[in-house]
Amino acid sequence: MTVEVEASIRMIIQQFEKYVKLNKRIPPETLMSIINIDNPGRLADLIASYLTLKVDEKQSILEAVTVQMRLKKLSQFLDKEIEVLEVEKKLQGKVRRQIEKVQKEYYLKEKLRAIQDELGEEEEGVPPEIGEYRKKIARTKLPPEVKEKATKELERLSKMPSMAAEATVIRTYLDWLIDLPWHKKTKSKLDMAEVEKILNEDHYGLKKVKERILEYFAVLQLTGKIGGTILCLIGPPGVGKTSIASSIARAMGRKFIRVSLGGMRDEAEIRGHRRTYVGSLPGRIIQSISKVGVSNPVFLLDEIDKLGSDFRGDPGAALLEVLDPEQNKTFSDHYMEVPFDLSDVFFITTANTYDPIPRPLKDRMEIIDMSGYTEEEKMGILKGYLIPKELKNHGLKAEQIEFKDDALMSILREYTKEAGVRSVERTVATILRKIATVLIKNKKEGKVTVKSSDLQEYLGAPKYRYGIAEEKDQIGAATGLVWTEVGGDTVPIEVSVMKGRGNLTLTGQLGDVMQESAKAAMSCIRSRADALGIDEDFYRKTDIHIHVPEGAVPKDGPSAGITIATALASALTQIPIRHDVAMTGEITLLGKVLPIGGLKEKLLAARRAGINDVILPEENKKDLDEIQQEIPIDIKFHLVKEIDEVLNVALAKKPQQKQKTDNPPKYPPSVEGQMLS
Ligand SMILES: Nc1ncnc2c1ncn2[C@@H]1O[C@H](COP(=O)(O)OP(=O)(O)OP(=O)(O)O)[C@@H](O)[C@H]1O
Ligand SMILES: [Mg+2]
Repeated sequence: MTVEVEASIRMIIQQFEKYVKLNKRIPPETLMSIINIDNPGRLADLIASYLTLKVDEKQSILEAVTVQMRLKKLSQFLDKEIEVLEVEKKLQGKVRRQIEKVQKEYYLKEKLRAIQDELGEEEEGVPPEIGEYRKKIARTKLPPEVKEKATKELERLSKMPSMAAEATVIRTYLDWLIDLPWHKKTKSKLDMAEVEKILNEDHYGLKKVKERILEYFAVLQLTGKIGGTILCLIGPPGVGKTSIASSIARAMGRKFIRVSLGGMRDEAEIRGHRRTYVGSLPGRIIQSISKVGVSNPVFLLDEIDKLGSDFRGDPGAALLEVLDPEQNKTFSDHYMEVPFDLSDVFFITTANTYDPIPRPLKDRMEIIDMSGYTEEEKMGILKGYLIPKELKNHGLKAEQIEFKDDALMSILREYTKEAGVRSVERTVATILRKIATVLIKNKKEGKVTVKSSDLQEYLGAPKYRYGIAEEKDQIGAATGLVWTEVGGDTVPIEVSVMKGRGNLTLTGQLGDVMQESAKAAMSCIRSRADALGIDEDFYRKTDIHIHVPEGAVPKDGPSAGITIATALASALTQIPIRHDVAMTGEITLLGKVLPIGGLKEKLLAARRAGINDVILPEENKKDLDEIQQEIPIDIKFHLVKEIDEVLNVALAKKPQQKQKTDNPPKYPPSVEGQMLS
């Protein structure tokens, strides 16, 4: 053994000793056994086997042929391993010290708190934020239950490190809790005459609504309590539902909030999310009340008929709790957890149609119908309200502009077609904008008069044809009266028959109910084939196409039943239908005519279209009488029970009954319709 090898061995043994000290996994006895080895080659191999080396590193040691080289390699590896182990140890120490520090702080804090508890001493050492909340809770007038809840939450907050995520949640919650107007109210003005004056100032007509509001006031004055009145204003767009609600608030001297329910599908939007959800908040009801800052505002829930519902729960059910006078004294929002008293809120809801409103909600509301305006009413609104309002909006004076009556009439008839007055208002605004531009450009003084002949210049060609009744009697085309969300309208229903194999085609965006009603009409006419003088087998040899034009507007409902039946009968018998007759009514398979809704809008539409005769179900007589008391309509009415009476009025001549000796017709040819005028 050379001196060099000897020296290398000593060095390696020293290194290995150090390595074993650092590496806890190698038992110290190993060292003894290694010192006793004489063969340097074996020594190197044995030590190498204890190191955590990669395979190719181990291989490189084996490949070193001379002992000297092998020892040198090994020494290098040992050096590297020792260095790694030393760094590792240093890191471990650092982490441990950190953990110890946090634990120590926590322990000391807990100890301090325990000592403070023992001494009954608090303010000292309490973060300023906690003290602030404590003062706020003491200062604000809160119901006992709420105060207790707030104190408890504050207690939890004070025990938390201020940076904890949970602490932020509690802080937000406390803010909501303290800021809600638990006891704040606006004092209601209660001078009836004043209320009436304000209501009239803002809106023309609307007698029923205003009357109801005044009644409500009388009760409020006597009892000091609302007594759970919830009004539901139902009517087509633009008849002033939203705006009368805000006027009611003004008349009562109360604050006004509006929440649109349109498209709301999630129960949590009404009632909030539980605080366990990240980013949870109270529902829209509590949010709005908090924003308005009083507990007795006028609260408008707009478009209650557009409420949705799906897997996220039913907002209708949550609304029930809001609107039910029995329950809303203790309305519980999921987020707030403590009940809030909504019984002083005056709720008003609005809807375009009655049917989609959830049933239980309907039961709790007082429905007020605001159907479309007549031409006379629209005139009144225009002159008394819309024109002055728009003049003011455009910075013009009443002396500067005069609208002639014929111009206004033409706006109503040729430029707008609606139940309310929204487009009317827009049209007036358009005219005024144009006039204002001209006045400014030409620096003109003096008065501008708007005549109907000027309208083309301001508004372009008329959009609608007034009096759209067909000009001559036609085969296969009957005029129906329909109710749409924008009020009543007249629609032609066309039927054409062709040679074919009995296919029935329906076009014009018809809803399911209307399609079924068309099929019922078809069967009904088939069963009357004999009486109408139609070939009994017609449905086998002809294709029938029923079309309702103006396809952009989806149409549904059963009330076109008799119109479809009449158009069918006309197409099959080739007898024309009178062009000045319009009709509405549901039909059954056996030819009975059933009542329909939306009569007032339909009749106004018939009048607008220049119709002379209207056929309606006998069972709607009551509605007709009511409407005629309100607005006398100069139309001849035919109240009917059976389809034969309809055909009798509508067809230009009587059908030729088929002569068949062996099989006499089952139905009488036709019965005179009961006439009213
Ligand atoms: N009787 C009326 N007197 C004066 N202005 C009216 C009257 N009716 C409606 N208006 C005016 O018509 C406009 C439209 O009314 P509003 O927005 O209240 O309609 P709406 O019934 O709420 O319609 P929607 O169903 O589309 O919400 C408002 O500017 C309103 O002031
Ligand atoms: Mg509205």
